[in-house]
Amino acid sequence: KTAPPVVFHWIPIIGSAIEYGNDPMKFFVNCQAKYGNVFTFILLGRKVTVCLGAKGNNFILGGKSTVFNAEDAYTHLTTPVFGPDVVYDVPNEIFMEQKKFVKFGLSTDNFRAYVGMIEEEVEEFLSSDPAFSTYQMKETTEWGSFEAVKVLAEITILTASRTLQGTEVRENLNKSFAQIYTDLDGGFTPINFMFPNLPLESYRKRDRAQKQMSEFFAGFIKKRRTGGSGQHDHDMIAALLNQKYRSGKALKDHEIANIMIALLMAGQHTSSATGAWALLQLAERDDVADALYQEQVKHFGINGEPGKFRPLTYEDLRDLPVLDSVIRETLRVHPPIHSIMRAVRDDVPVPPTLAAPKSEGTYIVPKGHVVLASPFFAQMDPTVWKNANKWEPARWNDPEGVAMMALKEYTDEGGEKIDFGFGAVSKGTDSPYQPFGAGRHRCIGEQFAYLQLGTILSTFIRKMEFKIPTGVPEHNYHTMIVMPKTPRDIQYRRRHV
Ligand code: HEM
Repeated sequence: KTAPPVVFHWIPIIGSAIEYGNDPMKFFVNCQAKYGNVFTFILLGRKVTVCLGAKGNNFILGGKSTVFNAEDAYTHLTTPVFGPDVVYDVPNEIFMEQKKFVKFGLSTDNFRAYVGMIEEEVEEFLSSDPAFSTYQMKETTEWGSFEAVKVLAEITILTASRTLQGTEVRENLNKSFAQIYTDLDGGFTPINFMFPNLPLESYRKRDRAQKQMSEFFAGFIKKRRTGGSGQHDHDMIAALLNQKYRSGKALKDHEIANIMIALLMAGQHTSSATGAWALLQLAERDDVADALYQEQVKHFGINGEPGKFRPLTYEDLRDLPVLDSVIRETLRVHPPIHSIMRAVRDDVPVPPTLAAPKSEGTYIVPKGHVVLASPFFAQMDPTVWKNANKWEPARWNDPEGVAMMALKEYTDEGGEKIDFGFGAVSKGTDSPYQPFGAGRHRCIGEQFAYLQLGTILSTFIRKMEFKIPTGVPEHNYHTMIVMPKTPRDIQYRRRHV
C-alpha cells in the first residue's frame, strides 16, 4: 500500500503551483493522462492529493469530517475575514448549527418578499447608472456597452443587501460600507489562501476592515435588540436574532455580525460571476437570448403590448424552464469554485475503483495531505456530457433529445446506472454536476442565488438585446472565483421605447 504518485516538477516547494494556478483544468487533464484519477501535486510546500471524476467527488465530499476536514483547510483564509467564533473558527458541530440558523432565514416566505425588491433594485440601477446612459435615452436603435463584471458586482451587492443583509447595510452601501467592504475583500484572494499572514498593507487593511465591519453590524444589531430601529421582518439578521444553540444559548451580537460577513463573502463573488458569465454567453447566443425573451413574453406579457410585463413573483421563477436552464448550464461550464479542499486528519485508503486503472494495489492518502475535489472537472467530462465544452442550456430541458444522450447513457464503473432525473442531479455526493458542492458542506445559498440571478436576468432580458463582438472571454483562474478575462464588455440596446 503506497501513497499516490507525485506529479513531476522541477522546482521543490513551488512544485506545480504555476501550472495549477494558471489553468487547473488543463493541469488536471494532463495529470489524469499520466497518473490516472488519483495523484498528488506539490503546491508551495503542501501535498495536495487530487481525486478526479464523480467518484473522486464522492470520496472527498462524502467523507467524514473527522478525516477530511474543512476547518483545517480553510480557517487561515476565512477567519481573518469573517472574524472569530463562526464558520471554520468553531468545531464542525457548532458550524452545522449555525448553518441551520441561516437556513431558517432562507425561508419561502422571505424569498417571496425578495423578488419584488430585487426587481426594483435592478430597474433603479439601469435607470441611473452611467453605464446605461444609452438605455436611459430611451432610443431603441442606439447600442451602448457595459462591463459585465463591474455591473453584476454592483447589482449583486445592491440586491443582496436590500434583501438578506438588511436596510442598514443597504443604506450605507454608498457610504462607509463600500470602502470597508473593498478592504475586506482584498484579504480574500489566493495569495491570502497560500500565505495567511504577510507584513503587507493589504493584510493590515483586511484586519482593520474586519473589525470595522463587525462593529458596524454589531452596532445596529444592538439597536434592533432594544427595538429602536423599525421593521425588518424578512432579513437574515431578524432570523438570526431568534435562534438558539442546542446548549440553550442565543447567538451573541458578534456571532451574528460575523455570520453576516461570511454570507456576504460567500454570496457576492459566486453570484456576481455567475450573472456576468450568463450575460456574456447570452450576448453571444442570440437563439438562447431570444428563447429566454419569448419565455418572459409568454408568461408575463400584458395583452401582447410590446415592453409591457407584469412583475415577477417567486412562484413564477420556479416555473421558467429556459431561465432555469440558462443558470444551470452557466454553473456547469463556469462554476465559480473550481477546487474544494479538505485537510486529511488520518491516513485514508482510496477505494480501488477510484484509482483504477492506473494504480497498482491500493493507495493511501497520508495524514497531513490536503485532498482536492473538482466538481468542475466532472462537469466538463466528455465521457459524461455530450459536447461538454459547449454552453448549451437546451440540454437541461430535453431529457429525450440528443443533447442529453451522453448523460443518459452514463453508468458508473460497476455498471450501475446513475440517476439524472431533473433536479436530482445536483443532490448526491457522487453526481457529475455539483456547482454547489455536496455532503455536509454543501451550499445553503443555492435557492437564494437562483432567485437573485433569475430576477436579475429576467429584468435584463425584458429590456435589452445584447451582442459581444469580442466573443465570450476565457477563464481567469488567478482570482478566488473563476472570472472572465478582459475584455468583457457587452453591447446592449433597448428593445422598446
Ligand atoms: C458552500 C458554491 C452562493 C453560502 C458552498 C460550496 C460551494 C458553493 C461549491 C461548498 C464548499 C466546500 O464544500 O468546501 C456557491 C455558488 C453560489 C453560491 C456557485 C452562487 C452561484 C451562496 C450564497 C450564500 C452561500 C448566496 C449565502 C447566502 C454558503 C455556505 C456554505 C456554502 C454557508 C457552506 C460552507 C460549509 O459548510 O463549509 N457554496 N455558493 N453560497 N455556501 Fe455557497
